[in-house]
Amino acid sequence: MNEGYGEDRAWTRVPRSKEEAQATYDRLSRWYDLLAAGSEGPHVEAGIRMLDVQEGERVLEIGFGTGRGLVALAQDAGTSGRVHGLDISSGMAREARGRLEEAGVDDRVALMLGDGARLPLAGGSIDAVFMSFTLELFDTPRLQPVLNGCARVLRPDGRLCVVSLAKQGRGSATVRLYEWVHEMLPRWVDCRPIPVREVLERVGFEIVEIDRRSMWTLPVYVLLARSADGAGTVTAAPKHADKRSRMEGDHDDE
Ligand SMILES: C[S@@+](CC[C@H](N)C(=O)[O-])C[C@H]1O[C@@H](n2cnc3c(N)ncnc32)[C@H](O)[C@@H]1O
Repeated sequence: MNEGYGEDRAWTRVPRSKEEAQATYDRLSRWYDLLAAGSEGPHVEAGIRMLDVQEGERVLEIGFGTGRGLVALAQDAGTSGRVHGLDISSGMAREARGRLEEAGVDDRVALMLGDGARLPLAGGSIDAVFMSFTLELFDTPRLQPVLNGCARVLRPDGRLCVVSLAKQGRGSATVRLYEWVHEMLPRWVDCRPIPVREVLERVGFEIVEIDRRSMWTLPVYVLLARSADGAGTVTAAPKHADKRSRMEGDHDDE
């Protein structure tokens, strides 16, 4: 089912609807930090440092979760900056709002409920976009709309920072074990490692910097990219309703 490219080039799909994602994250919202902050936090912080938001900048975070990233982005953007956050879960928005108020930065942050593939912001209105442990939650055919949306709202030469579980080639034994668990329990282990560098490049982003890290021996990439002119087209969307998908030209050498 990989159209002659071989199973070693495949990565897993996310077979659940937006509504199911919303329900899952609503349920998880109160416990999310307890479950994930310790393991994911250092990578999120590395991404925020890499994005290096400046005073007065206009920033967007997609999939802001409990708002840890939003607080740091708002502090960096300062009183003259503006941060927009978009998430599908009202439970997460409630947690984030509380955290922003506690940090005293809620006046410069606008929270929106919605789908990351449909950004309700004007074209060219954003200096920097941030996404941590969120891009890899979108099913393969939805990666292109999400990233094209980022390219649309970014000003020319705007920055995108993505923190994501990453897959290189066939993936290590741990990656394959994780993928197996993801395929068995897709509603609970809903994110999966993706060839994130290639995914960004196929849409026309130019990679500026990559920090290759790991979490429980799974590769995590922190990538900084610039929006190049004329965002292109992701070729990752599978032609069949296969459980796995692939990208032509994936390579193992990074
Ligand atoms: C794994 S959590 C990561 C949260 C946060 N970025 C962090 O690093 O702590 C993924 C977040 O993406 C949100 N999300 C899932 N699907 C989404 C969608 N289609 N559009 C927007 N947000 C979505 C979830 O509600 C959740 O808050």
